[in-house]
Amino acid sequence: MSSEPVLRAAIIGTGAVAASHSAAIAAYTGAALVAVTDHDPDRAHDFAALHGEPAVYDDLASLLAAESPDVVHICTPPGVHADQADAALAAGAHVVVEKPPALTLAEIDRMLAAAERADRRLAVVFQQRTGSAAQHVRDLLASGALGRPLVALCHTLWFRGEDYFAVPWRGRWETEGGGTTLSHGIHQLDLLAYLLGDWAAVSGQLWRLDRDVATEDLSTAVVRFDAGAIASVVTSVLSPRETSVIRIDTELATIELEHLYGHAHANWRITPRRDVDDATVASWRLPDDERASGHDDLVRQVYDALLAGAGLPAVAADPLRSFELVAALYASARLGREVRRSELSDPGLRGALEAPVTEVRPPR
Ligand SMILES: NC(=O)c1ccc[n+]([C@@H]2O[C@H](COP(=O)([O-])OP(=O)(O)OC[C@H]3O[C@@H](n4cnc5c(N)ncnc54)[C@H](O)[C@@H]3O)[C@@H](O)[C@H]2O)c1
Repeated sequence: MSSEPVLRAAIIGTGAVAASHSAAIAAYTGAALVAVTDHDPDRAHDFAALHGEPAVYDDLASLLAAESPDVVHICTPPGVHADQADAALAAGAHVVVEKPPALTLAEIDRMLAAAERADRRLAVVFQQRTGSAAQHVRDLLASGALGRPLVALCHTLWFRGEDYFAVPWRGRWETEGGGTTLSHGIHQLDLLAYLLGDWAAVSGQLWRLDRDVATEDLSTAVVRFDAGAIASVVTSVLSPRETSVIRIDTELATIELEHLYGHAHANWRITPRRDVDDATVASWRLPDDERASGHDDLVRQVYDALLAGAGLPAVAADPLRSFELVAALYASARLGREVRRSELSDPGLRGALEAPVTEVRPPR
């Protein structure tokens, strides 16, 4: 019999994204899915039947009391993430929470404080950061091998029809916290910031052109990064040919990523400036041991760190950065001016940035 430690995992919220978590837990040799709960009991039972028969509980409190799981995966709508994370952390579990981690910066601050109090980790799922190519390109940029980053594009051009917004929590500020920028664009923005580092300022506009929602179905923004790059960002749920694009022009090369919901090496391309020599170009090549991006790679890296008693890996660190960027984009749209990251450290302004955006253009 193996004496390897095994992480006992639980999932709360057995809807669409929970299957990716269950698959990632199953793919990790040192973990087992032991329990699930959902406020729709039929859903929880159906899910359990398909995913190895973990125990099913009526609610999170009874699950935590009976199972004392090592890790709780929160796969519920964002409006309940903060309270559920608090409960799981207080019960001594580490937490892996789906994006967006909560509805407001204040809620995320509270969750991070609860994790620190409990001496547990709080990992947020931004799985676009994972995979061997993203890691490689990040290292190339950080080492200066490609020169300074100058120009960037960040496009999340997706399609979500009215059926998608029929789910009651979607399309409303109170329950979703924002529109397509927070729910979809945050993935590419998170990857862009993972590659380029801290942002300095953002100016953004929110638009509602076609969907019957209270939030935005399109946003446009310009982000300035500390490293000097300027990024143009477009996020939409109105785009019939869906694509997710990141492009970064540095002094020496153009980096391009085009994919939809996940990427492997074939989705990346690095084009050198004409005068860069072959040996330099060869040194930029993607590594041979390819890993695709996704929940599997994220959970693997987080679980490795948990079992080693280490801090969270880079793919799950800085949970606030991309959320702050989106919150500042919303604030910029509301205030009609550029918002600087430094403003977020002022508690008064940080609070003010949370005020709901009431005007999305054109008004309906
Ligand atoms: N990382 C990704 O690629 C990705 C993809 C899809 C969704 N998500 C995120 O995952 C989260 C869930 O999205 P989804 O599409 O799976 O939603 P969903 O509506 O399909 O599933 C949510 C589940 O949570 C349950 N639930 C709701 N409130 C609950 C509560 N208080 N207690 C227990 N169960 C509750 C619902 O009954 C439902 O089964 C959201 O934050 C979403 O943004 C992330």
